[in-house]
Amino acid sequence: MTDDIDEVVARLMAYQAAVGERHALINGWVDDIAMADSLAASARDTLVARHDGVVVGHLRGTVLASSVYGESVWINPEGVSYDNPEILSALYAAAATRWLGAGATRHYVWVPRDDDAIGPWRHLGFAYMHQRGAKYLEDPARVEWPEGYAIRRGSIDDLEVALELDDVLRLAQEEGPSFALGLADTGQRDEWIETLEDPTVTHYLVEHDGHAVAQCATFALPERVGTFDNTVHLSAVSVRPEHRARGVGRAMVTHALETARREGFAIAETNWRVTNHRAGRYWRSFGFEETYLRLHRHVGVG
Ligand SMILES: CC(C)(COP(=O)(O)OP(=O)(O)OC[C@H]1O[C@@H](n2cnc3c(N)ncnc32)[C@H](O)[C@@H]1OP(=O)(O)O)[C@@H](O)C(=O)NCCC(=O)NCCS
Repeated sequence: MTDDIDEVVARLMAYQAAVGERHALINGWVDDIAMADSLAASARDTLVARHDGVVVGHLRGTVLASSVYGESVWINPEGVSYDNPEILSALYAAAATRWLGAGATRHYVWVPRDDDAIGPWRHLGFAYMHQRGAKYLEDPARVEWPEGYAIRRGSIDDLEVALELDDVLRLAQEEGPSFALGLADTGQRDEWIETLEDPTVTHYLVEHDGHAVAQCATFALPERVGTFDNTVHLSAVSVRPEHRARGVGRAMVTHALETARREGFAIAETNWRVTNHRAGRYWRSFGFEETYLRLHRHVGVG
């Protein structure tokens, strides 16, 4: 692999530039030095395909033990290139044989949301799972609160209510057609302690009659392929069912994004389960445009 790095980096730079041409909200720029370092550090996880001595594809999957997804393999946007779908098929067959040998039966890949990028993975048994969306934070936004609601910053003192509101989100995801089961007891408390104690995360709580009824969180996304600098990530958006459809969610998210805009963020990103149709509609109505799609395959009988 080490000898192939320059060729793989050149391919990735050309590929990402083309993706950036097609998607205004995907960054087409690749830091070639950082990419070469990253490939060198993960050489053992990367397979390269050559034809007549020339690199025609590569595949890098990282095996991770996740409390939510179990033993699984993750392929990031820069983790794959192929000249044609047959090369991807051969690379996947070889790499997945190794992954399965390590007990990793769940495979995840991020691809740009366009048919050419998605199709070859669909033919390998991958299905839609998670959607990333982004929007520009250009103009100042006016926040209109429904009567009786106010927003404040949360802190570690709000741990219990943050967990309750996270359960609201989890229960919504468990409903059909999402059926995101098995999210309970997956380290949620530890994650929220980390989130609320992290000075780089901003946590918002909306209150009504002295009770917290909605929350969300924002933080700066780290540098990564496909993401522009100054991108704020929005997550953990939930509103208690009895307070929905009153404009609470819109006011909370608008407030969080407007605060981020004033702090200098240029783009906001969020993500949702493809099967959470209401969330997808909701984010599109906010102006979020689809960028990357996460596909998954759970290898088993089938
Ligand atoms: C998605 C969610 C955060 C929206 O919160 P909300 O407070 O209901 O949001 P709003 O009230 O701003 O808007 C919801 C709908 O009510 C409508 N609405 C807003 N104010 C209204 C009012 N005064 N009267 C009637 N309808 C109203 C909006 O037009 C919107 O319609 P749409 O979904 O067709 O676009 C909430 O439904 C929720 O917590 N869902 C479960 C968790 C979840 O899926 N989170 C997102 C994960 S990615």
